[in-house]
Amino acid sequence: MEKKKFYITTPIYYPSDKLHIGHTYCTVATDAMARYKRLTGCDVCFLTGTDEHGQKIETKAQESGITPKEFVDRIVEGPRGVKDLWKLMNISNDRFIRTTDDYHVSAVQKIFRKMYDNGDIYKGAYRGKYCTPCESFWTESQLKDGCCPDCGRSVVDAEEEAYFFRLSKYADRVRDLLENTDFLQPRSRVNEMVKNFIDSGLEDLCVSRTSFTWGIPVDFDPGHVVYVWVDALFNYTSALGFLNDQYHDYEKYWPADVHFVGKEIVRFHSIIWPAMLMSMEMPLPKHVFGHGWLLLDGGKMSKSKGNVVDPYILAEQFGVDALRFFLMRTFPFGSDGNFSNELLIQTINTDLANDLGNLVSRTTAMVGKYFGGSLPEGCGTWTAPETCDQELLSMARALRSAYEAQMEAYAPHNALSEVFKVIQRANKYIDETAPWALARDMEANGPRLAHVLYNLLEATRICGILLSPFMPASCEALFRQIGAGANCQSWESAAEWGVLPETAATTKGENLFPRIDAEKALAALEEAEQAARKAALPAVELEPQLSEQVDFDTFCKSDFRAVKVKACEAVKKSEKLLRFTLDDGTGTDRQILSGIHKFYEPEQLVGKTLVAIVNLPPRKMMGQESCGMLLSAVHTEQGEEKLNLIMVDDAIPAGAKLC
Ligand code: MSP
Repeated sequence: MEKKKFYITTPIYYPSDKLHIGHTYCTVATDAMARYKRLTGCDVCFLTGTDEHGQKIETKAQESGITPKEFVDRIVEGPRGVKDLWKLMNISNDRFIRTTDDYHVSAVQKIFRKMYDNGDIYKGAYRGKYCTPCESFWTESQLKDGCCPDCGRSVVDAEEEAYFFRLSKYADRVRDLLENTDFLQPRSRVNEMVKNFIDSGLEDLCVSRTSFTWGIPVDFDPGHVVYVWVDALFNYTSALGFLNDQYHDYEKYWPADVHFVGKEIVRFHSIIWPAMLMSMEMPLPKHVFGHGWLLLDGGKMSKSKGNVVDPYILAEQFGVDALRFFLMRTFPFGSDGNFSNELLIQTINTDLANDLGNLVSRTTAMVGKYFGGSLPEGCGTWTAPETCDQELLSMARALRSAYEAQMEAYAPHNALSEVFKVIQRANKYIDETAPWALARDMEANGPRLAHVLYNLLEATRICGILLSPFMPASCEALFRQIGAGANCQSWESAAEWGVLPETAATTKGENLFPRIDAEKALAALEEAEQAARKAALPAVELEPQLSEQVDFDTFCKSDFRAVKVKACEAVKKSEKLLRFTLDDGTGTDRQILSGIHKFYEPEQLVGKTLVAIVNLPPRKMMGQESCGMLLSAVHTEQGEEKLNLIMVDDAIPAGAKLC
């Protein structure tokens, strides 16, 4: 039988900065859904990628002194870039599109021309409010307190000759799509779109720009580049081969089954995207699902606010699967949720270490201890099941369909909570059956004990299958520990009881999810975050050179001399000051105080030949006189102040003039 097709996408990311945990959230959700669909037997195409054009990127590249392409290449392909992150997070995308890829560029040019030829794109003049960071034009009525309704930043008046897309022409069809079908989910997003954008009247959309060049050129009108959102949205069809020869499965996979997108880009996906597809006479995606945001301290994460959470650090500290699980288990997919490290640790400890980890380790340990790692034949059946046996079995048998219903409704958090009900029931079953008590009299209770343990292994197996889209690597380890081979890991077998061979060889492997010491982990996180912040700072920063000139005579008035350090000690009650006793060649000791204790211990400096300005007026510091100043070189290294005293050859006699 031909497999059911399933085409699922994430938004393609702006590589203007490194990705944060908010971006990771959506991609992990899409990955879990794609893996789930593959598990159920679908032929899945999962697409992600990067959206690389637009003014913001052009400006950032200029600031970094490189070309826009070099700039995006670094973030997409470079170390710890977008592709690296998805590899680390075990993202199973089938395709990765970059909107700078040639095949996409020429496809978008053809699409633009087609909509121009069919009269849906026309030339006009655009006057409006433009938000540069969001690359969005807004009408006066759409602004929130005079600012961009998406990001809250200020907008500027902008006017330019531009092409327009006849969005207004499609208003009724789009309204019908939103109101009368299940195209846009969750349902609450429909009201937002209709009330905020459609009821107030859909205006035609400006779809070309002349004020910058980093975009796909309109091939029949040089000087215009295609609006970044038109370019970006058609990635979903370019990646299948629509109007290009790079791929050949547009017919197979289009229309998409679902686009997962964050709530702030639902407008583009549920109004502009279907309207353009209607203009192109292409089928519409079946669903757009607008998920919520991960918030930090109640607000959206953004690089400019400096409050982004680095997924690399979290994955390295807690493990990829624990992080994936946390994201999917904790935050209802359609709503916003508050991210915190404390919550992450608590979820790992409660669900993974306590509930799941304990179930697996206790069960395999007991099979090892009481039966040498393999249960006896016949243990799968029991003639007089007790209530607790029946309860565990019926919950485990019903689990797959409860889970499936939630996954099909794009509610992965609820699907996971169904699985955890069974895991918790299984742990309770251990307490109720008390295997350690049964083991005290193996002759009498051995068969019952084996049956109890078999039930536990079987419940664990079913849960493992359903958890595998969320924690693929850990579930492989789980299957190895309970002795479940490939035929015990299938979707079909998740609905059946008694699939695991009775004598399966179990192993007590390492603890799947060790308990986390919250205090230590938070301190280590803080340290890793600080190190990352430091690493992101420039390697060396120098004081800018003074532009004001000093005349030669004035300069010559400063008397620089070589001085030898006879003694050096810390000034009492001062953290910074060192007191130097110096031979300056005059025969009388000179005292200079210098605030450099942070950089040198006094004993390191005795005997060194330094450079001092000796004709500065004496100054009192901490009640002591300082006659002159020692010269040093200063710079900043990854945010840290550095200082080196100027030391000269010891062969230079004390008092020699430097000029
Ligand atoms: N390039 C566009 C998408 C074009 S799709 C044709 C874009 N890129 S983005 O990098 O800014 O955002 C990518 C996705 O990450 C969006 O769906 C956005 O909602 C999501 N998130 C960014 N920050 C987020 C959170 N803090 N929480 C959850 N998702 C967030 O938009």
